[in-house]
Amino acid sequence: MSTASTVAAITLAVAGVLAVGSASAQSDYKGEPSTFSKSYQHITNAPEWAADDPMVLLQPKNFRRWVFIGAPLTPNGLNGGHASFPEFHNVYVQPEAFQYYRDHGEWPEGTMMAKELQLTGGKATEKDGSRYEPSGRGYFPGAVNGMDVSVKDSTRFGESKNWGFYNFGHHAAPYEASAAPAPIAACAGCHIANASEDMVYMDLYRPIVEPLKLPE
Ligand code: HEC
Repeated sequence: MSTASTVAAITLAVAGVLAVGSASAQSDYKGEPSTFSKSYQHITNAPEWAADDPMVLLQPKNFRRWVFIGAPLTPNGLNGGHASFPEFHNVYVQPEAFQYYRDHGEWPEGTMMAKELQLTGGKATEKDGSRYEPSGRGYFPGAVNGMDVSVKDSTRFGESKNWGFYNFGHHAAPYEASAAPAPIAACAGCHIANASEDMVYMDLYRPIVEPLKLPE
């Protein structure tokens, strides 16, 4: 190989690495580490970031003890056998973020929504994947099968309306210990286009987020 073609080959190889690098999720977010939130004033169960990468989120601890705000259901049986997010989507938010939302009508910096996917359980007896329990025909909870998290942090995610999106695996638990931010096209884009309030599908949760009135 001539010197010129060796240089060309190396240049191409480097360009290839750079191209792969620039296609990575991080490239969607231009924030500088020095400007990232250091603290979340209204949040005690704060998002934790990897020591060696301030965009990598650690799996939130004990999210099943947070406030449960809803469980949208997209059964595989009604989605050609492969729903994008099978099947129950159990959504939890930190208790202090929940209280702040009730008091102020908005989610504070550092809010996290954890969405754990839960498959339907038992053997389906109907074509649509449903089956029977003494309560009736329907879909009933089975094994858990994945976890996604959205995080509100305007210093990191200004490019996607202040929310970042993370996938900790679509498979049985345990889920990944940490996750890199998903590309905007993979998650945030659909939330930007369709979510009813501040990137969250609040219309689906509002019926049980508002305080329940007692009879007069
Ligand atoms: C095609 C549209 C679409 C895409 C792509 C999408 N979502 Fe969502 N997401 C929704 C809808 C609709 C809901 C509420 C209803 C539901 O869960 O079925 C939702 C709910 C959520 C919730 C619960 C809080 C909320 O905003 O309602 C989280 C967390 C979430 N998605 C994370 C993610 C992550 C992470 C990705 C990428 C891996 C992603 N989403 C990709 C449409 C989408």
